[in-house]
Amino acid sequence: MRPAFSKNIAGMSGNMIREILKLTQQPEVISFAGGMPPVDAFPVDALREISEMVFDKYKGGIFQYGTSEGFLPLREFIVTWMAEKGVKTELDEVLITSGAQQGIDLMAKAFLNSGDGVVIEKPTYLAAIQIFSLYGAEFVYGDADEQGFVPQSLRRAAGEKNCKLLYLVSNFQNPTGITLAGERRQELADLLSELEMVLIEDDPYGDLRYSGDNIKPVKSYDRENRAVYLGSFSKIISPGLRVGFAVGPKEIVGKLVVGKQLSDVHTSNLTQAIIYEFCAQGLIKPHIESLKLHYRKKCDLMLELMSVHFPPTATWARPEGGLFIWVQLPEGTVATELFKEAIKEKVVFIPGGSFFAGGGGANTLRLNFSNATEGQIEEGIIRLGKVMNKFMA
Ligand SMILES: Cc1ncc(COP(=O)(O)O)c(C=O)c1O
Repeated sequence: MRPAFSKNIAGMSGNMIREILKLTQQPEVISFAGGMPPVDAFPVDALREISEMVFDKYKGGIFQYGTSEGFLPLREFIVTWMAEKGVKTELDEVLITSGAQQGIDLMAKAFLNSGDGVVIEKPTYLAAIQIFSLYGAEFVYGDADEQGFVPQSLRRAAGEKNCKLLYLVSNFQNPTGITLAGERRQELADLLSELEMVLIEDDPYGDLRYSGDNIKPVKSYDRENRAVYLGSFSKIISPGLRVGFAVGPKEIVGKLVVGKQLSDVHTSNLTQAIIYEFCAQGLIKPHIESLKLHYRKKCDLMLELMSVHFPPTATWARPEGGLFIWVQLPEGTVATELFKEAIKEKVVFIPGGSFFAGGGGANTLRLNFSNATEGQIEEGIIRLGKVMNKFMA
């Protein structure tokens, strides 16, 4: 049988990163591929105690259907959490999502007709590219440099293909690790009003800053309420619990709620309650601090080893936070070919071309430093350095 799939999904294959992650199941392979926390970073003991407490406190009620908007105490917590980030918001502007990824999907569902334009950075988060493509979006690329998205490029980009949406990862971008400079955020928020566009500000990494000062979200400068901020507990508590949130204007959040009702009704009450109690008991901030120490150490170690073992023609910047180091190889070097050699030596990364909608970036690659142990980072970077030196000689 050849099923008659929809036009939008027929041409799509599984995400390359998921395919690479399957290779990493083999125990001898050292993986710098996925963007995951290591399992020893999960606060398992605290979560066990909290889970028991949730059963006692909420009893059967927690197993009933809940509201699509989300578990009320958690939504209230998000209002205060956002206020600490400099974003004033109200309860009916907050929706709990099944991860930030669902937030991207619901925004696409709410805004995109086939053929509509979306402004993105090149490169950007692969799943966002895939989600927008699934809704038939056409991409227009804004300019970006080492300070992040160039606000004035939105003026040109927005004019092409009737763009309604701009999608950005504002802090420690996936894959480049770049953060949108503070000075650019106000300008960008003002441009959204002028160009009547809506920003999806995706920020799953913002709390993981290892150096430099915290920068307020673009959403905090957004006087006309044109930005929808997507947050997530995936990188700061657990990705497996699938809890994130969207904060935006009521009329947009109202449509996201309809979209969510029709897709998964609501995010699991149990996981929302566990996340809420973890936060309400004051455990979240010390936990983030301990993650920062842990990841900063791994990031520094990886950078140090890279400077010793990688060929001098490979370049990279030190990320101020997040989970990734972005590497540029000389023009003409093909990272997917390098990958084939690396897997023979049992070390893997993500070739950067996957993050470039419409092609490009063949000579780039992304390394994750959070998931491997320090010993694996040491061994893996030595192996990768050898492969690179041989391949690029
Ligand atoms: C930029 C970006 N947005 C969203 C997500 C999805 O996160 P979540 O687990 O909250 O759905 C990720 C996950 O890696 C990401 O890198």
